[in-house]
Amino acid sequence: MSFTVAIDGPAAAGKGTISRAVAARFGFAHLDTGLLYRAVGAKGGDPVAVARGLSAADLERDDLRSAEAGQAASRVAAVPEVRKALVAFQQAFARRDGGAVLDGRDIGTVICPEAEVKIYVTATDAVRAHRRWLELREAGETVSEAEVLAQLQERDERDRARTSAPLKPAADAVVLDTSSLGIDEAVARAIDLVSARR
Ligand code: DC
Repeated sequence: MSFTVAIDGPAAAGKGTISRAVAARFGFAHLDTGLLYRAVGAKGGDPVAVARGLSAADLERDDLRSAEAGQAASRVAAVPEVRKALVAFQQAFARRDGGAVLDGRDIGTVICPEAEVKIYVTATDAVRAHRRWLELREAGETVSEAEVLAQLQERDERDRARTSAPLKPAADAVVLDTSSLGIDEAVARAIDLVSARR
C-alpha cells in the first residue's frame, strides 16, 4: 500500500534531516528531489535533454552538494520542460508500495497534491544560513557566512518567483518552523504528524 509524505521548504530548513529520520522511523523509501535538479544543473549542456535522459549514475556524482551545484539546480529548475521531464519518476516513487517520503519545493503542491501528509519546513534566513555554513565548512569549503546567506536568499528568491511550480506551502500543509528547534524536537514533531495520519 502506498503512503506519501511530502516535505517542502526553502534551502537548509532541515528538510533532508527530517525526511531521512521519518523514512527510517516508518520504513519508507526516501527521495531527495533536489538531487535530481542538482544532477541536471551539474551536467551542463541543454538542461531539457539532460533531464529527459537522467540516469542513476548522474545522481552519484560527488560534487552535487556544493553551493555551485545548488545555484545551477535552482536555475535549471525554473525551466518548465525540465520540471516536466522529472514528474513521472517522482510520482512513481511517491506511490511505491510501502510508503515514501519526498522532499523538495513542489511536492505537496504539484508532484503529490494527494499526499497523506504534507509538511512545510522553514526557519529564519539567519538560522538556515548558519546551518548551511556549518555543513559547507564540514565538507571543506571555505566560504563566509555572509556569502552563504546571500546565496541562499538569491536561490530562495528565484525558487519562489518562478512561474512553474514555485516554492510555497500547499494550502493543506502543516508549517514546521525549526528556527528554535533542535534536530530531535523537529524530527519528533514530524513523526507525530505522520503517526496521526497512519
Ligand atoms: O533541496 P536542494 O537545495 O538540493 O535543491 C536545489 C534546487 O533545486 C533548489 O534551489 C530548487 C530546485 N528544486 C526544485 O525546484 N524543486 C524540487 N522539488 C527540489 C529542488
